[in-house]
Amino acid sequence: MAYNVTLLPGDGIGPEVVAATVQVLEATGVEFAWERQEQVGTAAVEAMGEPLPEAVLDSIRKNKVALKGPITTPVGKGFKSVNVQLRQKLDLYANVRPSTTLPGIKTPFQDVDLIIFRENTEGLYSGMETYDERLEIADATARVTKHGTERIIRFCFEYARKQGREMVTLAHKANILKISSGLFLRTGQEISEEYPDIEFNDRIIDNMCMQLVMRPQAYDCIVTTNLFGDILSDLCAGLVGGLGIVAGANIGDDCAVFEAVHGSAPDIAGQGKANPTALILSAEMMLRHLGEAAAADALRTALFAQYREGDCLTADVGGACSTRQFADRLADRVASRVAA
Ligand code: NAI
Ligand code: MG
Repeated sequence: MAYNVTLLPGDGIGPEVVAATVQVLEATGVEFAWERQEQVGTAAVEAMGEPLPEAVLDSIRKNKVALKGPITTPVGKGFKSVNVQLRQKLDLYANVRPSTTLPGIKTPFQDVDLIIFRENTEGLYSGMETYDERLEIADATARVTKHGTERIIRFCFEYARKQGREMVTLAHKANILKISSGLFLRTGQEISEEYPDIEFNDRIIDNMCMQLVMRPQAYDCIVTTNLFGDILSDLCAGLVGGLGIVAGANIGDDCAVFEAVHGSAPDIAGQGKANPTALILSAEMMLRHLGEAAAADALRTALFAQYREGDCLTADVGGACSTRQFADRLADRVASRVAA
């Protein structure tokens, strides 16, 4: 039986990396019935005056799983980010972003293996802002709730336990934001007591950044609030070779949306230069979420082989292949692995 999955090609490099990922996923032999939703973001605003039509949300609610390309957000004006709206409206509170060294890529570190757990629905990033025209004062609300905090921290510990991970680090700014970041830290300290098998510690966010750049191998799972998580995940992407290779998943109690950490990369869109690895690794997470561990293993092993061989990589990681050539080669590798 085929899995019903909502497919959002997105914009910019989205359609290119989504096509590559679908090709590689289908090479695993797992069957998918894709429900394509093209009308999101700018295209949907032009066609129907609404960046995130209800039909898209309904499709994801029905199928429970979506694979998503990046969607452009206008800067400093225009509609509210579709990516943020999706996470909030579907209550996808856990944003899971692993950064792992791939074989053959030249980076300062060869053994990074981190997972960021970013709270995905509240905090400063949620975009609750007001502007007082008369006084010319802008305010942004960084709401942190006990409920929102408990569920992301518990999610992180449960995930860590299931994956046999050893340590959780909570990143915060509770020295300055004593109430909001303080609530996040205190809640983490409380919940950590329930997980004596997992080492727990905390870092102030600025020190966390320095530590990650100096010795990322010392960290394992990192749980943090929304905006810190956004920034830390691009930092961690940089540690392992850039945004082209870092996966992500947005997970709630009812639905899950799998998407890369990177955005729509307008600077390289439509040129066949985009690296689809980030979305392919997100698709690997999707396969595991669906219970297709053997297919996920085959895909990961084939991908690592492609990096180890280095015979067909995209330009961002030093290769000379196009998005499509990368996907063709990888799909062959996956198919022969599945056949064997
Ligand atoms: P970006 O991630 O799109 O690009 C940053 C840099 O990384 C660019 O130089 C780009 O060429 C490179 N890059 C990104 N992905 C790549 C890939 N797969 N292969 C090779 N190189 C890659 O970030 P930027 O420029 O800040 O944002 C562009 C747009 O994307 C904005 O409208 C932003 O709001 C949106 N965005 C959407 C996200 C989503 O849909 N979840 C996440 C982040 C940004
Ligand atoms: Mg980001």
